[in-house]
Amino acid sequence: MSIGRVLIIAGSDSGGGAGLQADIKAVTMLGAYAATAVTAITVQNTLGVSAVHPVPLEIIEAQGRAVLDDIGADAIKTGMLGDASTVAVAARLIDSAPGVPVVVDPVMIAKGGASLLDPRAIAAVRSELVPRATLLTPNAPEAEALTGLPATSTDDLRRCGHALLRMGARAVLMKGGHVPGDRLIDLLITADGESAFEDARIDTVHTHGTGCTLASACAAGLAQGLDLTTAVARAWNYVHRAIEAAPGLGKGHGPLDHAWMLRDR
Ligand SMILES: Nc1ncnc2c1ncn2[C@@H]1O[C@H](COP(=O)(O)OP(=O)(O)OP(=O)(O)O)[C@@H](O)[C@H]1O
Ligand SMILES: [Mg+2]
Repeated sequence: MSIGRVLIIAGSDSGGGAGLQADIKAVTMLGAYAATAVTAITVQNTLGVSAVHPVPLEIIEAQGRAVLDDIGADAIKTGMLGDASTVAVAARLIDSAPGVPVVVDPVMIAKGGASLLDPRAIAAVRSELVPRATLLTPNAPEAEALTGLPATSTDDLRRCGHALLRMGARAVLMKGGHVPGDRLIDLLITADGESAFEDARIDTVHTHGTGCTLASACAAGLAQGLDLTTAVARAWNYVHRAIEAAPGLGKGHGPLDHAWMLRDR
């Protein structure tokens, strides 16, 4: 398996549980190589986001170009972008790496409720990123915002997923974390059909960064040349084991154990 170079375009989480810190940990633990274009520095811990310092657009783009021109990338992953101009920068970087698979995590709201995307940028995500996505990984509220359809049941997730395919995504991983119920079901939907990833919901508050971790783990697999379903299945297992092993840090939504496979149990 080639090492798999992943360019991550995302925001920093000082708490280390989500954002590009989670991305780097997930990509590294799955044996791939992580490089980053930082879009924003968030002041954040397990209790929430208290400030956001955006990185200038030309520095975001220059980071991406510096990585692509020298190191190269076998997959690109986007996370927190913040506003429509940053979405446009991400689209340009994607276009400068033709043929490279792209995992778009359409991050909008942090677990603690803070907005991580200007609501006026939702249209830009819809028109500029969804059609460039090899794999789109919305949670339920993000799927609602992108499609205008409800996303409160697994059937709703399926309908949203098909709408997002029609909007141009090649594949959609509809995350069921926000859908109520004892069972937790994620759906991978492509033009060829659907795979369900299902398990009991883990009873825990330590789910900070689950979405970032899942999307980056998928990107690592695609970068390493795994087929889509295998990459998603490995990522899903990785995230679930990481939630189960969460170390219980902080007073709010704590981080996962990205290094669970190194523990001696
Ligand atoms: N309590 C839980 N038990 C098991 N799996 C979970 C739990 N919460 C989330 N997951 C899994 O974590 C992944 C992320 O799902 P979720 O819907 O929480 O994404 P998200 O809202 O984007 O996360 P984030 O807030 O980190 O951005 C999915 O694979 C989901 O199934
Ligand atoms: Mg998310």
